[in-house]
Amino acid sequence: MPRQTVVLSVDAEQPDPQVVERAAAVLQRGGLVAFPTETVYGLGANALDEAAVHSIFAAKGRPANNPLIVHVADPRDVRELVADWPPAAERLAAVFWPGPLSLVLPKRPLVPDAVTAGAATVAVRMPDHRLALALIAAAGVPIAAPSANRSLAVSPTQAEHVLKGLAGRIDLLLDAGPTSGGLESTVLDLSRPRPRLLRPGLISAAAIEAVIGPLDRGELAPDPAAPLVSPGMLARHYAPRATLECVAADSAARVVELQSQGLHVGWMPLATDEVNTIAGVETIPMPLDPAAYASKLYAAMHMLDDRGVDRIVVELPPETPPWLAIHDRLRRAGAPTERDG
Ligand code: TXA
Ligand code: MG
Repeated sequence: MPRQTVVLSVDAEQPDPQVVERAAAVLQRGGLVAFPTETVYGLGANALDEAAVHSIFAAKGRPANNPLIVHVADPRDVRELVADWPPAAERLAAVFWPGPLSLVLPKRPLVPDAVTAGAATVAVRMPDHRLALALIAAAGVPIAAPSANRSLAVSPTQAEHVLKGLAGRIDLLLDAGPTSGGLESTVLDLSRPRPRLLRPGLISAAAIEAVIGPLDRGELAPDPAAPLVSPGMLARHYAPRATLECVAADSAARVVELQSQGLHVGWMPLATDEVNTIAGVETIPMPLDPAAYASKLYAAMHMLDDRGVDRIVVELPPETPPWLAIHDRLRRAGAPTERDG
């Protein structure tokens, strides 16, 4: 079902109410609207409209067993979605919402099974972005929104990234410039006796523990027969088209080696003083600060893909807690696919 994709530019700080109303009307009639959040661009639909939710999966080519995050414009609006709102959720929402933290809780029957991939839980969050909040409020319904990319591709942090994957597959794209955060939200499971991190993100485990105490840090037991715990945990995810490899030390030597094999190489070194460009290599120096690095990571991968490189060499950032979510995404972007193996 091809769609005519309209693109509208909007001011991120002072969104034009007429544009917001127009986008909200598209959502209300079951359409698909891509919009920025503080993390990445989301692909939104009315979370309570089962057919609209199915069309999200169709547009992304997303497997039906990967559940969606439901976005609200007011913390009170989660009460109609979740069957239980424990004190830990109340405290976390008070501290981190609006913000990049998704909370997994038992769902109410109102939430369609399509949203949760048949699970008894639903992930909810309130994004920290004026346009996103205005849009959700104007639509008057909770908005299911995965990242606005084709399944398994790199998440979009700019409107152009959305169009690369979804032009002709969505009704409307609100372009409010690059997102600030750059990595998807932290996903925390509060539906179990001991809270557990399902996906690391911009809000760290330590910051969460400072509010609600220790998390269950045990390894997630991989059981191939069980339903997916959180498909964001799949090895291969967020990957560029080019093969990506992470190198701990002397990434320049690896770049030169690959180039000598005739490969067109993209290079993402850490921006220390010694970064020299190498002729013929597409070089994107990466910031030494984790927040700045996160906000640039996906844009760098998109750019190198656009330049048609065969291989991307990433110099690994330090193995310290502030870099955890970045290491997680780099690992997934570099994980071999079935094709490779
Ligand atoms: O920052 C973000 O979270 C962005 C913006 C648009 O809000 N959204 C996003 O959505 O990254 P998506 O669909 O790409 O990732 C959602 C993650 C997946 O890892 C999914 O498995 C997990 O959240 N998830 C959603 N509902 C869940 C549930 N009921 N139980 C466990 N994991 C869930
Ligand atoms: Mg995604």
